[in-house]
Amino acid sequence: MSQRSCLSVILAAGEGTRMKSAQPKVLHQIAGLPMVAHVVKAAEAAGASGLALVIGHGADEMRKAAARFAPKAETFEQEKRLGTAHAVIAARAAISRGYDDVLVMFGDTPLIDADALTVARRRLAEGAAVVVIGFRPPNPAGYGRLIERDGKLTAIREEKDCSEEEKKIGFCNAGMMAVAGAHALKLLDAVGNENAKGEYYLTDIVEIASAQNLDVVATEASFESALGINNRAELAQAEAIWQQRRRHDAMLSGVTLIAPETVFFSHDTEIGADTIVEPNVWFGPGVRIASGAKIHAFSHIEGATIASNCDVGPFARLRPGADLRNKAKVGNFCEVKQAVIEDGAKVNHLTYIGDARVGAGANIGAGTITCNYDGYSKFFTDIGEGAFIGSNSSLVAPVTIGNGGYIASGSVITESVPDDALAFGRARQKTIPGKGKELRERFASAAAAKKKAAGADH
Ligand code: UD1
Ligand code: MG
Repeated sequence: MSQRSCLSVILAAGEGTRMKSAQPKVLHQIAGLPMVAHVVKAAEAAGASGLALVIGHGADEMRKAAARFAPKAETFEQEKRLGTAHAVIAARAAISRGYDDVLVMFGDTPLIDADALTVARRRLAEGAAVVVIGFRPPNPAGYGRLIERDGKLTAIREEKDCSEEEKKIGFCNAGMMAVAGAHALKLLDAVGNENAKGEYYLTDIVEIASAQNLDVVATEASFESALGINNRAELAQAEAIWQQRRRHDAMLSGVTLIAPETVFFSHDTEIGADTIVEPNVWFGPGVRIASGAKIHAFSHIEGATIASNCDVGPFARLRPGADLRNKAKVGNFCEVKQAVIEDGAKVNHLTYIGDARVGAGANIGAGTITCNYDGYSKFFTDIGEGAFIGSNSSLVAPVTIGNGGYIASGSVITESVPDDALAFGRARQKTIPGKGKELRERFASAAAAKKKAAGADH
């Protein structure tokens, strides 16, 4: 089949009123990626080399977004929404280029898996002219019904045009179709709009093709993979299904999730075998984890690279550019941004490391802050190999702590510290014998005098 060329036409012109959003429906995200981008990924995974995106509502925003998530896609604007067949025809220029297979997909059906598309393409390769992807929703109301005779599909009837008898059919149109490129335009151009909604229905090509004795069949996909998104409740439902699939894949690839239902992945999370993820962990986009890491509970991680055998959290926040090398440790209530934590370095408690390098084996004490920002610009802190930063120190960037540098706790470090030097950035301690007792007595007698005076007033 791989030698058959394939164009995917993705319909995404609709407004999506029920999302109640200023943003086009198909740009709402699942796992941090617009739903229409999930559809593009599935099309590509099923072998589509051509991508035609039919846009309409929010066309400018759609074009801008498409340039990011599908730079190879051509966009076609459907000026008036006159129905799904009319929408496919908007991509006429792409279709007429002569692909073997044309996959018609919906931008609001983000969980469609490549397998369902591959099965449909296989039926085209076997000689079918039209392959409709069907499914059996728990409640078929609102879907087009698949009308079959002798194993062939003869028609798809939209709910509004169904007889009472036809409404009882549970096998429904998921919306997606594979059409032989040789017939596609001829079939589409024959579609009229004499129906309850006065629209040009893509589904009519089934009847048209079977009347021409072309081979028309239905395949069956799971309900989940055909789920269409119309409102935010369905968006959340799709997110939940996506997350469930991803957790399952992660576990089968060797990742331990102690409470899988509480771990949230991004569309691009890479996570190696023998990583253990404790409950309540969030992965934003751009996270790569090698093998054997431990991600403790309640950590929030995005744009971070985590090498082998690192230890993160609990309650760690790794922001974009956090780059943890082998066996590095970032502990509780620490935030790391745009910083390399080199091999075996430890950032254990209540610390902010931003725009910095922490050298191999360095130890960052509790409450250390890299003061990287003056309200206008960001500055770099360089901490050498094996350095020791005492607790509650502020490192005012730009500043360098040399290899083996030793910072006394509570220091405010404003000047660079050479290798192996000890730096105190605080006032020296003064101890006065007996002064504590004297102060206590003085304060006690003052308080007693005040109380007595207040009593005399009454
Ligand atoms: C469609 C199918 C129905 C199927 C259901 C599955 C048709 C006629 N009906 O109905 O059989 O059971 O999907 O969810 O195909 N679009 C455009 N331009 C248009 C019209 C639609 O781009 O002029 C896009 C929409 O943005 C959407 C997709 O096509 O992504 C489907 O349109 P929609 O109006 O949701 O069709 P349904 O009534 O759900
Ligand atoms: Mg729909």
